[in-house]
Amino acid sequence: MFRGIFSKDPLALESIGYLVYDGTSPDPQALLYASAPERPGREHARFATLNVAGRTWTLHLYALPRFYSAHGSRLPLLVLVVGALVSALVFQVLLANHRYALLQARLLAQAQAATAEAQEAVRTRDEVLAIVSHDLRNPVGSILLSVRLLARRVPETDDAGHRAIAGIQRAAEGMRVLIGDLLDLVRIDTGRLVVEPRPCPLQEAARDAVDVIAPIAAARGIHLAVDLPADPLRVLCDRERVQQVFSNLIGNAVKFTQTGGSVTVRAEGLPDRVRVSVADTGPGLTAAERERVFDRFWQADKSRKGGTGLGLFIVKAIVTAHGGDVTVQSEPGKGATFSFTLPRAP
Ligand SMILES: Nc1ncnc2c1ncn2[C@@H]1O[C@H](COP(=O)(O)OP(=O)(O)OP(=O)(O)O)[C@@H](O)[C@H]1O
Ligand SMILES: [Mg+2]
Repeated sequence: MFRGIFSKDPLALESIGYLVYDGTSPDPQALLYASAPERPGREHARFATLNVAGRTWTLHLYALPRFYSAHGSRLPLLVLVVGALVSALVFQVLLANHRYALLQARLLAQAQAATAEAQEAVRTRDEVLAIVSHDLRNPVGSILLSVRLLARRVPETDDAGHRAIAGIQRAAEGMRVLIGDLLDLVRIDTGRLVVEPRPCPLQEAARDAVDVIAPIAAARGIHLAVDLPADPLRVLCDRERVQQVFSNLIGNAVKFTQTGGSVTVRAEGLPDRVRVSVADTGPGLTAAERERVFDRFWQADKSRKGGTGLGLFIVKAIVTAHGGDVTVQSEPGKGATFSFTLPRAP
């Protein structure tokens, strides 16, 4: 730009120029830029101090004596002033661009560092979680086994003994489920939740789960109804994983429904898939709660009854891995119906 303005006057090109200093004085140590290698004297010079983006710069504009002796009029001064203004403008634009690029680079570097740090933290958490969960699983398994053996040895008349054993069993079983859920969480987060769908009758996976939960429902005075078609509904399913889905959904329904309420498990065959629903007469969910119900660790404040808030997050991951989907229909005070689909076996 500077050269463009003075290109019509070759003498001006070599005898007019500018220097930029960092700070408020033209200190040679602080020289940032010189338009020509030649250093001018202080005569025929104009100094300007600029404050750009919080930093002070000194602009030194000059015309060498040979420029004046060639022109000998006020014109050179005018040219010098115009040149100075244009140069200052160009300088400001260049500086602003430069600072913007620097800022962007700094922000990008900060964002990259934060992402790397977050990824490292997640990896460490996953590793710790996996090691701890894995190492806890075996001792908890031994406790459960030993307690079962102990239960057989305690005389039937010893009520207090059996109550204590039942308490240990409940606590250990809770730990077993929690460890399993934490391991599943790590698997989901690291993309290692593998399902192996094979053709199997849906009723079998459902019954396995119902058999475990029926005594709990009965103890809590909740009517558990299972309304499945007599003909086998053959679906593509990883039986253990689908049983886990049933356990979570029926377990939730029983857990959150008040005594005297009911829970109904149904299934219907559609042309290419099977839809299963678990309906209850519990407290139901608001629209805002329905939005969050499948989030990890989410629990409605009003209905905290133990657990970690991982059940439905895992349910969703398992059903999705099967190529199905899971939904919830509910109104506050009118119960909740959780439904999921599985592809039919060919
Ligand atoms: N059938 C239901 N009726 C009313 N609220 C429910 C029902 N099922 C789930 N919820 C709400 O959704 C939350 C999340 O359910 P989720 O199964 O993920 O966790 P949890 O049952 O609290 O704990 P976890 O399953 O890990 O033992 C529950 O805490 C509860 O607030
Ligand atoms: Mg649950």
